[in-house]
Amino acid sequence: MKYVLDGEEIDIWSDEYVEYHSKSIADYVRENLLKKDVFGEIVGKNVEKELVKNALMSGSSILFRGRKGYGKTTFAKAIAKLLPEKLLAIKGCKINDDPVNPVCFSCRKKLEKGVVELEWVKPRFVRICGDPMMTTRQLIGGISLQKIREGYDLDSPEVFTPGRILKANRGIAYVDELGAIPSALQTLLHELLEEKQITTPEGDIVPMKIDVLFIASTNPSNYRGVSDIKEPLLDRMEVIEIGPPETVEEEIEIAMRNSNEWLKEKVIIPEWHRKTLARVVRLARGDEVRLPAKVEVEPSCRATIKVFDHVMSSAVRRGHKAVMISDYGVNGDFSNIVLGVRGRIKLEFEQEKVEEVVNTLVNDALEITCSEVFNSMQKEMSLLAKELKKKEEINVYKDYKEFSFLPKGMEESALEFMLESLARCVEVAERKGDGIYIYV
Ligand SMILES: Nc1ncnc2c1ncn2[C@@H]1O[C@H](COP(=O)(O)OP(=O)(O)OP(=O)(O)O)[C@@H](O)[C@H]1O
Ligand SMILES: [Mg+2]
Repeated sequence: MKYVLDGEEIDIWSDEYVEYHSKSIADYVRENLLKKDVFGEIVGKNVEKELVKNALMSGSSILFRGRKGYGKTTFAKAIAKLLPEKLLAIKGCKINDDPVNPVCFSCRKKLEKGVVELEWVKPRFVRICGDPMMTTRQLIGGISLQKIREGYDLDSPEVFTPGRILKANRGIAYVDELGAIPSALQTLLHELLEEKQITTPEGDIVPMKIDVLFIASTNPSNYRGVSDIKEPLLDRMEVIEIGPPETVEEEIEIAMRNSNEWLKEKVIIPEWHRKTLARVVRLARGDEVRLPAKVEVEPSCRATIKVFDHVMSSAVRRGHKAVMISDYGVNGDFSNIVLGVRGRIKLEFEQEKVEEVVNTLVNDALEITCSEVFNSMQKEMSLLAKELKKKEEINVYKDYKEFSFLPKGMEESALEFMLESLARCVEVAERKGDGIYIYV
């Protein structure tokens, strides 16, 4: 067999090329798992990371199960980094066929001729959206009758259009919401992955020895009308549960990594605001807070990320160096937080107000962060209380220069939060407007 790359004959078994063909995708993934850590950008989730690594080492397919926005797709994308950087494939093949063991009919035909042209390809990460209207043609592939009428041979490459899953040959197929795929197609899928064949509706068995790493995601069953995954398919996958971030620190880390870069360069979002905002979202997920309405669908990490963005946006627009409480919303409401939460939360009854729920959550979150601040800075707090008594009113935007203990670059924000803590924890201060506190 003669192999030609860029017009020159090559020895594909030489050291230069041997790594780039004839190896299964699972083996590439195993080797890279031992060489590099690709899960560094996923915050926390240490148990889940271990499970994913083990499942991949075992050559298993993985099903990530969890509610929206907790990192299923992020995990799948991280796994994609375990694919080799490039592969040798038969030139022009729609499914990146292997030069030595090609799968598709037209490539096998090419091999019979004794000379095969090769090319470098990047292994694919094919994202397939689980859709109840999906057809066999879209998922597996289809024959073009038009091309046959035009005189093409049945096994010429023009006649067959590979579907999404075949396109993932020698790469990853990631199915988002696996349960949404029609059940007949789910059956085809497990036949394809397990037995490397497809049974047509007429009962013909078509060999399809494709090599894909199969990863899928699903929301837990009974959740917002998600349909079930068929047992035989489920039986062939390792299920790994993906839940919300475990700690407020992880929640903050996720929000900071994913919030807008441009905004983060323009404005500081101090620790006390990070904690408060992350807590607003986290409190909506638990039942520590007595809410005016029952939360049916809880806000995910996407809500946290967006709340951080909106509050920073307000700060930039209003010329603040660091986020202030008024950036939560104008006129003392929390409309910028509502903006990040409204579409991402579902209350039990439609008529219930997201504004009221957010108001309760923000006040509870402020109570917690303020008491942390109050307890950790008792000396400064009593100094500040004395000063407030003397002056009767403090405007943080003007008076911050008089206090030496405030952190650089965020003096106004720090002073405001300390006064807010005095107001909430010992009730010697009262907020009278944007950054203005009076002695009571
Ligand atoms: N543990 C985490 N580490 C880093 N980023 C995370 C983590 N969890 C969530 N995120 C971030 O939250 C956002 C949503 O995550 P992702 O898209 O992976 O969720 P998902 O579970 O696939 O959601 P869906 O069910 O809606 O598809 C992304 O911006 C992602 O970067
Ligand atoms: Mg996703």
